[in-house]
Amino acid sequence: MLTLGHDLKTHQPVTLDASRARVLCVCGKRGSGKSYTLGVLAEELFQQQPAPCVLIVDPVGIFWTMAQSADASGHGLPVQLLVPGEPTTAYPPPLLEHFQRLGITVERITLRPSDLSPDAWCEFFALSVNEPLGIAMARAVQSLTDVVTGFDLGDLEDAVQHDPLAQDRTKEALLNRLSMAKSWKLFDAQSADLTQRLTPDRLFVLDCSILDYGTHGLRSLVLAMVARNLFTAYHAARQQALPPKILVGGQAVVTDSPRTPLWLLIDEAHQFIPQGSSTLAKDALIRWVKEGRQPGLSCILASQQPGSLDQDVLSQCDALIAHKLTNLEDLQAANRLSQAYMGSELKVYLRHLKGPGQAVLVDDARERVAMLQVRLRLTRHGGGEL
Ligand SMILES: Nc1ncnc2c1ncn2[C@@H]1O[C@H](COP(=O)(O)OP(=O)(O)O)[C@@H](O)[C@H]1O
Ligand SMILES: [Mg+2]
Repeated sequence: MLTLGHDLKTHQPVTLDASRARVLCVCGKRGSGKSYTLGVLAEELFQQQPAPCVLIVDPVGIFWTMAQSADASGHGLPVQLLVPGEPTTAYPPPLLEHFQRLGITVERITLRPSDLSPDAWCEFFALSVNEPLGIAMARAVQSLTDVVTGFDLGDLEDAVQHDPLAQDRTKEALLNRLSMAKSWKLFDAQSADLTQRLTPDRLFVLDCSILDYGTHGLRSLVLAMVARNLFTAYHAARQQALPPKILVGGQAVVTDSPRTPLWLLIDEAHQFIPQGSSTLAKDALIRWVKEGRQPGLSCILASQQPGSLDQDVLSQCDALIAHKLTNLEDLQAANRLSQAYMGSELKVYLRHLKGPGQAVLVDDARERVAMLQVRLRLTRHGGGEL
């Protein structure tokens, strides 16, 4: 059980069952306590027995502070920072030293170019698959898909260079893009499987804040590849563990996932799964929330406006933690998540919320609604000073 805080009326603890895989949404206006609550959830998950693996996707760069105690006077939880790209260029030396003093492990992660489909490469470079640049790009990737050992950006450059069907100007334009992608130091054909690295004894924080928000959906690309990598590994493990079916008294028993359950916490989730527009991460995350429960994959999405999250994903949520909302449109979007068992509409509950950290919990699993004060953090919240 995760203890989120106390009920505003009864003062009893408000809990959430985390013994099985779940999809949760945390919403609220800016400054209402979403990131703080995400931190509380991460602390609670970390303390579960047995503990799941926890991976926080951090587009703002505020979760490494969980390595400190709430008042920053001592140590908090063991944090491992996953850095897409080169840490020594991503952080100034004093910050890296600070991480070291706090015991934060900084680990570089890279992506395999071969994990991206020809279409996804085009989308990444914002190329239409129906125009010469996109066609040539897709052809170059396609020509390498049979390479069993995977391929590097250098191999892609060679493929473009030696494409007999592409014109020189097309080649030049693609080579420019590939050279830019090389400069991010993000790709590596030999990139290790992330699943092997995630363990329950640390909090893993994927720091997307170091990636330029505007550059070709780089953040979405990273999350897409991380999510796909983990989903594939968990799904495959589950498939392998299924047969032979265990029969007890003639009834099939559903075997647990052979892997440690994994919770993916995504702050500012609308960056990755916006309603009405596509991102590279969207498909991977939709698959995660729709098909992830059986293999043991959970997800918590925090976003300012519930209406800005993809509705397909939102409909998969089995619990909602709604902080204060004032904007009419956001209130209406949240209100659509009202449930029959609630007594009155969600907007009525939301109206009674006061300061930051107060929230309405709508829990489909127990068909329960509670108004709560989210508990204080044990670790430092990095969001307040931003
Ligand atoms: N449960 C809480 N208890 C006490 N203070 C809180 C709580 N939740 C949020 N706050 C305060 O509100 C501020 C904003 O919260 P934050 O989670 O950063 O907002 P946002 O919704 O924008 O992510 C925090 O810096 C903190 O001071
Ligand atoms: Mg926030």
